[in-house]
Amino acid sequence: MGYSGFLFIIFLIALSFSQFNLITAQTHVYEFCNLGGNYTANSTFQTNLNLLLSSISNSNSNSFRFFNMSVGRDPDTAYGLFQCRGDQTAESCKKCAATSANSIKTRCPYRKESVIFYDECLLHYSDKSFVSTVQLDPTVYLFNTGHISEPDLFTPKLVEVMRGLVTQAIANSSKLFAVGKDNFGISQSVYGLVQCTQDLSTADCYRCLTRAVSEFPGCCDRAQGAQVINPSCISRYEIYDFLEPGTFVIPPPPPPGVAPPPNTNSSTGKCTLSLF
Ligand SMILES: *[C@@H]1O[C@H](CO)[C@@H](O)[C@H](O)[C@H]1NC(C)=O
Ligand SMILES: *[C@@H]1O[C@H](CO)[C@@H](O)[C@H](O)[C@H]1NC(C)=O
Ligand SMILES: *[C@@H]1O[C@H](CO)[C@@H](O)[C@H](O)[C@H]1NC(C)=O
Ligand SMILES: *[C@@H]1O[C@H](CO)[C@@H](O)[C@H](O)[C@H]1NC(C)=O
Ligand SMILES: *[C@@H]1O[C@H](CO)[C@@H](O)[C@H](O)[C@H]1NC(C)=O
Repeated sequence: MGYSGFLFIIFLIALSFSQFNLITAQTHVYEFCNLGGNYTANSTFQTNLNLLLSSISNSNSNSFRFFNMSVGRDPDTAYGLFQCRGDQTAESCKKCAATSANSIKTRCPYRKESVIFYDECLLHYSDKSFVSTVQLDPTVYLFNTGHISEPDLFTPKLVEVMRGLVTQAIANSSKLFAVGKDNFGISQSVYGLVQCTQDLSTADCYRCLTRAVSEFPGCCDRAQGAQVINPSCISRYEIYDFLEPGTFVIPPPPPPGVAPPPNTNSSTGKCTLSLF
């Protein structure tokens, strides 16, 4: 498949595709294998890549959510970037680092550059330095085959709501992540998520996400859930809560005449940005 400019793939996912995310099971979503040429077996680059992937897989660093690293000297350097989804726990991020580093070699054998996406994280490696560079292509569009029941109300609201999330995501340059929940004017709740890799500037993140969310009506009209994914950013909505439990903290209704309890640390380390 040619990789010139814009790779447009439409890929159907069954409704059940990612509905049951157990913390122990990383859900594979997609990979871009064909971003560079092939390396030769037993080359220095292969040795560097193996070292890179095993240190990602065994990473015990405190920055479990995002890191980039490189192994080896020019011209055989292997560059890597790991990004965990912003709502995930430390445990889930570390598991996903191990899973993605172990599977990328099998799924993209002998490739000089690949990105693999799980529901919980992404892993990108290359023979070229790519950190801090926004990469809008290729893009993959994934959507649920189920249709939304009230598209006339839903579709116009979708881009507007997702754009609100983009604004929230770039409000903090060290987060570049936001989630939200809205009823979109329909009877059903809709959950949204946008995220850039944390090496990007807010300007590049804005560019990446703005383009991605504006593509929802075109790529995924009426779908009950969809994702637009490229190496630099992901955006997704679903009509079910696909986020880590506790991401949306719903305070219990206060008993009559009693002040509501203070919001304790239930959202520590998580992004709880909501549209309300
Ligand atoms: C690269 O390797 C893959 C997997 O082994 C193979 O399918 C593909 O044809 C190779 N591409 C080139 C340009 O050699
Ligand atoms: C690479 O190394 C392995 C193990 O040393 C060897 O079996 C294999 O033949 C080598 N392949 C090439 C292409 O040199
Ligand atoms: C991560 O990327 C930045 C920006 O390219 C670079 O300065 C830094 O050295 C990289 N870190 C590692 C461990 O490679
Ligand atoms: C931005 O996000 C980082 C990481 O989550 C957090 O530590 C910091 O407090 C946030 N800054 C602001 C101004 O909210
Ligand atoms: C605060 O968070 C920690 C770690 O998640 C948890 O063990 C503790 O029970 C929480 N405390 C409260 C008051 O929610």
